[in-house]
Amino acid sequence: MDKDTRQTVADGGSGSDGGSDSGRGGGGGSGSDTAQGRQRLMAEGLTLAYDRRTVAEKLSVTIPDHSFTVIVGPNACGKSTLLRALSRMLKPVAGSVLLDGQAIGAMPAKKVARTLGLLPQSSIAPDGITVADLVARGRYPHQGLLRQWSETDERIVDESMAATGVAELADRYVDELSGGQRQRVWIAMAIAQQTPLLLLDEPTTYLDIQHQIDVLDLCAQLHEEQGRTLVAVLHDLNHAARYATHLIAMRGGEVVAEGAPADVVTAEQVERVFGLPCQVIDDPETGTPLVIPAARRSRTARAGAPTPLAGAVSES
Ligand SMILES: Nc1ncnc2c1ncn2[C@@H]1O[C@H](COP(=O)(O)OP(=O)(O)O)[C@@H](O)[C@H]1O
Ligand SMILES: [Mg+2]
Repeated sequence: MDKDTRQTVADGGSGSDGGSDSGRGGGGGSGSDTAQGRQRLMAEGLTLAYDRRTVAEKLSVTIPDHSFTVIVGPNACGKSTLLRALSRMLKPVAGSVLLDGQAIGAMPAKKVARTLGLLPQSSIAPDGITVADLVARGRYPHQGLLRQWSETDERIVDESMAATGVAELADRYVDELSGGQRQRVWIAMAIAQQTPLLLLDEPTTYLDIQHQIDVLDLCAQLHEEQGRTLVAVLHDLNHAARYATHLIAMRGGEVVAEGAPADVVTAEQVERVFGLPCQVIDDPETGTPLVIPAARRSRTARAGAPTPLAGAVSES
């Protein structure tokens, strides 16, 4: 099970090797050198494991600067594990994650938290915390001995709650909210952190269709208007194809395809990655790939027998 807590993220990420804070403000680096060259967030030759369970080996990933990168892949293929490694919550057994050219494991936690935010897949709010207080925790990485809570922090918290539609819930207790409301509160917290890089693990899970679109629109807006680099794990391939500027498909701890959605979301790739026969047509609204799973009858005719959960990889 996922042991992350979003509280940890708000506190500046203490998931791996400690580190004290130094410096203040800023948090950005020099950015990328070239489009193909060094980008702000890269991983090289990662081996990722929990105790003795190895999830990925020789995994290398480059997140294009200013992209809206979406990661897709079957359950248990290592998407969350990769995001944890990219955000310093999980220390790789081998290889390294580079943030602005520096090994992330050697960077002070608070500096990382000012540059990169993670919304984990599942999390536990501190007992008895209100929505406004939880969202305010997104501002912690910006505080320090010389930098106390300010009107700017207050404004950013209010704006983040408004953007995610939770302003009217500000005084409610987080543990009394519905799953979808709570999800939007966590997203508000991640946005309030105001990091140039934002990693979101299944931000639309638990949300109804309208709120899914609202959250994805908000992500697109953060990406387009503010130039932030977003990385989101999504399960809906059609949403992924609509919103991603860069799509990464994973299976069994490996990146099996990446690039523009039109190149990655093809019937062959979807069958290869998810084991799902399908058609891919043009989305009538956007022209992006739209996946139409084959009907049960034609799938079972092809396979010879029903294959429940055929898309899940064996270790799940
Ligand atoms: N905290 C953990 N301890 C042990 N194994 C884990 C832990 N988290 C995930 N795993 C295992 O690692 C593999 C990849 O999991 P995960 O990255 O969460 O997959 P995904 O996000 O793609 O569904 C799975 O086999 C899962 O059971
Ligand atoms: Mg996951």
